[in-house]
Amino acid sequence: MEGNMAIPLKEDMSTETLNFSADVSRLLDIVANALYTNHDVFLRELISNAADACDRLRYEAIQNPALTKNDPDFKIRIAKDTKTRTLTMTDNGIGMSREELIENLGTIAKSGSAALMEKVKESKDSPKLIGQFGVGFYASYMVANKVTVVSRRAGQDKTWTWESDGRTGFSIREASKEENAILRNERGTAIVLHIKDEGAEFLIDEKIKQTAQHYSDHIDVPIYMDDSDKPLNQASALWTRPKNKIEKDQYNEFYRHITHGFDEPLLTSHWRAEGKIEYTALLFIPTLRPWDLYDPTRRNAVKLYVRRVFISDKLETLMYPWLRFVRGVIDSEDLPLNISRESLQYNPLIAKIRSSVAKRILSDLDKISKDDAPAFIAFWGQFGAAIKEGLYDAPEHREDIFKICRFFSTHDNGEKFTSLDDYVSRMKEGQNEIYYISGEKLESLKTAPQIEGFKAKGIEVLFLTDTIDDFWLQSVADYKEKKFKSVTRGDIDLGSAEKETAKPDANIEKLAARLKEILKNDVSDVKASKRLTDSPVCLVAADTGIDMHMERVLKIHQKYQGGTKPVLEINAGHALIQKMQNLEDGNTFTDAAHLLLDQARIIQGEPLNDAAGFARRMSAWLTKAL
Ligand SMILES: Nc1ncnc2c1ncn2[C@@H]1O[C@H](COP(=O)(O)OP(=O)(O)OP(=O)(O)O)[C@@H](O)[C@H]1O
Ligand SMILES: [Mg+2]
Repeated sequence: MEGNMAIPLKEDMSTETLNFSADVSRLLDIVANALYTNHDVFLRELISNAADACDRLRYEAIQNPALTKNDPDFKIRIAKDTKTRTLTMTDNGIGMSREELIENLGTIAKSGSAALMEKVKESKDSPKLIGQFGVGFYASYMVANKVTVVSRRAGQDKTWTWESDGRTGFSIREASKEENAILRNERGTAIVLHIKDEGAEFLIDEKIKQTAQHYSDHIDVPIYMDDSDKPLNQASALWTRPKNKIEKDQYNEFYRHITHGFDEPLLTSHWRAEGKIEYTALLFIPTLRPWDLYDPTRRNAVKLYVRRVFISDKLETLMYPWLRFVRGVIDSEDLPLNISRESLQYNPLIAKIRSSVAKRILSDLDKISKDDAPAFIAFWGQFGAAIKEGLYDAPEHREDIFKICRFFSTHDNGEKFTSLDDYVSRMKEGQNEIYYISGEKLESLKTAPQIEGFKAKGIEVLFLTDTIDDFWLQSVADYKEKKFKSVTRGDIDLGSAEKETAKPDANIEKLAARLKEILKNDVSDVKASKRLTDSPVCLVAADTGIDMHMERVLKIHQKYQGGTKPVLEINAGHALIQKMQNLEDGNTFTDAAHLLLDQARIIQGEPLNDAAGFARRMSAWLTKAL
């Protein structure tokens, strides 16, 4: 969509006035007022253009060093004048000749930058320009009702003035003495914005400074305000420099700069992706988790740049939610600058970057887990629970996430993390499942009656203590074809090699039936247990039901309503159970049955249905015993 605005109207010796055709001025209006949601971006666009102009001259000066000899330091200057209500941006870049002014600023969607990039595509030291579309300049008209551009092409001796109200047309003339003075330099461009009332805030120093820093901190040309000789921007994009030229201190300082923190990152990852998608990433994992890591409104904070120009640090789709603690910068070569944040959300390129970044971070973490175990353990303690959300959120990365997952287990009596691969390598002959028990507290899991039998047989059980574990287990069935199996749910077959299981014994079956009759409102069944060795009873979920701890978690987090009654398992080998077999029906037996159930509930951290009844029975029994 190239609209040519250069239709000559009338001519005299020094000034030509040219008209926009009707459609083109409408187009200009759209560009100036509808393309961007935020007025601030006009400054970003003008700074980007100025930086491009400097880069282009730097490039031309390789062939022709004379072009920059008198004035070798590139700079951008922003000056305001509250009397004339103008804001002027000056650069000593390449400048524009008369023809270039007409061509580039008189033609919407004509980009001198893009044309150059097209020409020099192949050469190895070609500049990395920001401009692509030939529309950015017109963003000026969001805050200005007239724009005067004074420009002199490097190496030429005439300065030209282009001027337009952005509606009716533009004029071009040789610059007057005063206009030459605005330019300050022997080459380059000065853009004078005649600020309209709507844009009045851009005549305030602080607003100009903040906006310039916000978008253009890492543009690699220094930006000065008025006559100050201290640049207001960093003027360097650390991530664009080669890795071997960057010291650890510089990385750390950059990390502190973007996080406003004082700590050091645990992991620094800096790479350039080439090929189908091109981007540079400089990402950090902090040492400590932020206080609001689990706040559902917490979002990605990684900054998205497009060719060193800041775009957004609130683009939710840029990082997976389970990597929301990662900080840093992703700088894309392929994304258009003008694109709005809303349409960025759904840009397929963003999804590709997200996936590629996640893959890289997971593989770096896997590497740390091998090279620096203590650092990795520290990391896992801080962020493991968040990472595990990815197990259901991003099945495409599940395998890589599992690689770095660590759990406590009976293997080291819950003292040390183990990986799933280590668990699998320790599995007993004939064991086909990965056993786990989940609950809030590691200490209570370690002493849970349900794992007694496993410990006795040396079968490892994982202790899952993060709330998130109960969620991913709902959608992840297995790891390397070994099913995850809760030891508090359903029947357990402690290995097919097991021989000592006694034949079902008639006495215990009878006791189970009597208990079930009394407790039928609370339990779905009473069974002789295969998993108990020391405790008299425990509760487990029915085979068809949902794991008990999971049910509790779901009730809290997902307003889960349903509910299946648990199964009470009794330990035939326990003295208490054996004594009960000989106890006649009656109050004592009934009380004992209730006390047994309540005991199982207490150990498990389940609330008692009838705490008063429990206290009454308990007192009665204590009185009898004392
Ligand atoms: N300060 C400047 N110095 C030299 N040339 C400039 C300057 N500002 C703009 N130009 C020229 O005007 C053209 C149009 O600028 P404009 O910002 O509209 O588009 P762009 O930078 O090419 O692309 P984008 O729409 O992505 O910004 C540029 O490509 C460049 O050739
Ligand atoms: Mg531009």
